[in-house]
Amino acid sequence: MVRRTKIVATLGPAINTEDILQQLIAAGVNVVRINMSHGTAAERVHWIEQTRAIARRLNTEVGILVDLQGPKIRVSRFKSGKVQLVTGQQFILDADLANDQGTEQAVGIDYKTLPTDVHSGDILLLDDGRVVLEVKKIEGKKIHCQVNLGGVLSNNKGINRQGGGLSAQALTQKDQQDIVFAAQHEVDYVALSFPRSAADVVHCRELLVSAGSKAGVIAKIERVEAVDALDEIIKVSDAVMVARGDLGVEIGFAELPAIQKRIISRARALDRAVITATQMMESMIDSPIPTRAEVSDVANAVLDGTDAVMLSAETASGHYPVQAVESMAEICLVAERQKDNQVSLPISAEQFERVDQALAMAAMYAANNLGVKAIIALTESGATTLWMSRVNSDIPIYGISRNPMARGRMTLYRGVYPIELDITNYKRWEIIRVVLTMLRDQGIVQAGERIVVTRGDATGIEGFTNTLKVVTVEAPPPNLPQSRDLGEGASS
Ligand code: PGA
Ligand code: MN
Repeated sequence: MVRRTKIVATLGPAINTEDILQQLIAAGVNVVRINMSHGTAAERVHWIEQTRAIARRLNTEVGILVDLQGPKIRVSRFKSGKVQLVTGQQFILDADLANDQGTEQAVGIDYKTLPTDVHSGDILLLDDGRVVLEVKKIEGKKIHCQVNLGGVLSNNKGINRQGGGLSAQALTQKDQQDIVFAAQHEVDYVALSFPRSAADVVHCRELLVSAGSKAGVIAKIERVEAVDALDEIIKVSDAVMVARGDLGVEIGFAELPAIQKRIISRARALDRAVITATQMMESMIDSPIPTRAEVSDVANAVLDGTDAVMLSAETASGHYPVQAVESMAEICLVAERQKDNQVSLPISAEQFERVDQALAMAAMYAANNLGVKAIIALTESGATTLWMSRVNSDIPIYGISRNPMARGRMTLYRGVYPIELDITNYKRWEIIRVVLTMLRDQGIVQAGERIVVTRGDATGIEGFTNTLKVVTVEAPPPNLPQSRDLGEGASS
């Protein structure tokens, strides 16, 4: 059985040679994530080129996701790199203090309007809640706080307000430059950090389109406001991310499991993909095996119906990046197998707006109830396979496309396997035979197996899937010299 749930792995200093990147991809990474909060442009270009070269070498498809930094509100730097804050002491967040002048008493902030955003009584969580401050009073550009939970605070750690509500714009100047970078390098997905509303996502897409990119937009759900506007945000996105790091800080970590389930089920219901992210295998940063709690977390995300599970520091800066991917792959595979409600009918009362969507649903209905071995979608944009993969099934969906962007998009969809083939090189009547022969010769399907195929009448145009066929894979033709050896009549 082939794993259906996809793995997204973040690149970072631990992935510092082409060899280790190749090991990571060979271990099962479907999408690499380039985090724009860290690293240099030269490193990123290198990773993109290496990923593409390795994917070609391994004859596989690997999607590339650029994750924008967003308006993460951070403290600036300390004179000594870090300080120890003691519970009960006073501490000042000072927008007027120079960038590198932080001490035990005060530190600068790069988001200069923070003092007008917060009020006395607010709880500020620093470094994902490892240090907690309570706002006592605001004096000009200084936020006077009391330390409610002390600890080490080092350079550039994030600040969240419990309950959300900080007004920072979702797309910073840097994000806008990084969108141009993503467009230039034709990446498959761009993830938008800290969107507050559907309008933020729409704005991101407009910037991408005007930079000439067709990348899918992933909205990271990591603010209270985004949870409140969940459906509207999902509808204008191609995928969403359950960004448990920042979301857990803003909303309280105990709320996360229920919200994760809600985000996944709404994304699926609205025909969008979804990634579950952050701390999935956190202990594997320093350990070659996961904790039992982490095993359960990954398995439960699979059972919730996520398209993909994500690794952050585990692969970016951990000591066991390849083992983290291997463990995750194994957990996904076993969780998928043990799912008892694997096959469900597309019980949908909805009125389909598009012919290709109706065809995708019809294909799944036929496949799930007829007992076929594979579903093949000849697709220009990959949209047909996304609809298909919203229906629970254990039948693999092969998305055949000549379009690299469509194949890149499909790397994220659960149960969908992108394959490159340019069907416009063939005559209409021979296409299905060419595709089946290719898959049979690669051992993906076997002679005698029944397959569901969808395609469009007008080859090579997006959104034109209008045909559903059930076909049986033919046996390979008899080897000609051999049949001659056997004499006439022996080959019939
Ligand atoms: P980040 O996003 O890793 O970019 O912060 C994910 C999260 O917040 O969980
Ligand atoms: Mn985040």
